[in-house]
Amino acid sequence: MDNKVLLAIESTCDETAAALIDSSGNVLAECVATQEAFHEKFAGVVPEIAARAHLERILPVIDSALKQSGKSPADLCAIAVATYPGLPGSLIVGLAAAKALALAWNKPIVGINHIQAHIYACGLDASEPIYPCVGFIVSGGHTSLYRCDDPMGWDYLGGTIDDAAGEAFDKVAVMLGLPFPGGPALSKLAAQGDPRSIRFPRPLIDDPKRLDFSFSGLKTAVRYRIAGSSSPTAEHRTLDEIERADIAAGFEQAVIDCLIAKAILALKKTNLKRLCVGGGVAANSQFRMQLAQACQAQGVTLVIAKPQWCTDNAAMGALAWEKIHRGQFDSLHLDVQPGLVRPKG
Ligand code: KG4
Ligand code: ZN
Repeated sequence: MDNKVLLAIESTCDETAAALIDSSGNVLAECVATQEAFHEKFAGVVPEIAARAHLERILPVIDSALKQSGKSPADLCAIAVATYPGLPGSLIVGLAAAKALALAWNKPIVGINHIQAHIYACGLDASEPIYPCVGFIVSGGHTSLYRCDDPMGWDYLGGTIDDAAGEAFDKVAVMLGLPFPGGPALSKLAAQGDPRSIRFPRPLIDDPKRLDFSFSGLKTAVRYRIAGSSSPTAEHRTLDEIERADIAAGFEQAVIDCLIAKAILALKKTNLKRLCVGGGVAANSQFRMQLAQACQAQGVTLVIAKPQWCTDNAAMGALAWEKIHRGQFDSLHLDVQPGLVRPKG
């Protein structure tokens, strides 16, 4: 196994990705095809479009990663693929590609958990082991906290009861006339505003019993503010640039305050001393900076995946090595489990 490499495939949402990873976890090559341009006019990921785009791109992406690595199918020891959670059509394309190549090249297949993989990505270039830790996934599809005692451990601690944080960023960005995906654009606009000028609600933040999030009411509060009336359906006013930036900054700060408060509460409740964060929103610079300050104040080690490994990628498929080393391969009967974000049982 030692000189062999793993091909990892990722297609859980709207990124088609493949990576070649050696048995020490070194990423030899990776290729990611984003679909932002396809979903932009809908201001959100359209599952059917995502699945079709995966279908067109999956083999070229795998081919490109293989070529970059200088490896051939004969060098592979297994094919890993994220099978849950995610969009059903997107997951099916990745799994079908993995199965077809496993059959054609006579390789074993390993299904992986996309949430565990996001957390594992934090350890890929970390200087020390990341487990045990509180794992925190903050993306367009997820906002959840897990107790992770090992790479395959994922005890659900809490999560969003409505929108994911990234989804709230994307929706508020639309209200402010910003392009999709909204997170990066909104955060750029927020940098020109005053986060203290408008105080938006911070749902559930004061509930010490719950490790949950809720961003839907916050979104509505932004809508009321933009409308300048108590009716969210009222015609939007034309905002001046200062107010627009202040709304962006006030919203961003409200989300960040909720994320940080519950992450710190999860650390206290579990008595763990390390926080590992992944998902697209972890690329937000204010969030990174303020979370680092909060962790330092609590004496907690913070590990955030590097930006290219925060968003969906296949390098995090290195998690599959943990299963391969334990001889845990899957059969070709492996299926997708789109909705599974909490451990069973
Ligand atoms: O993890 P990801 O690539 O895809 C999944 O949702 O699985 O995350 C994408 C999400 C989008 O909602 C995007 O707006 C958000 O991450 N995002 C950000 C930033 N960069 C990406 N949100 C806030 N600030 C950012 N800088
Ligand atoms: Zn993801």
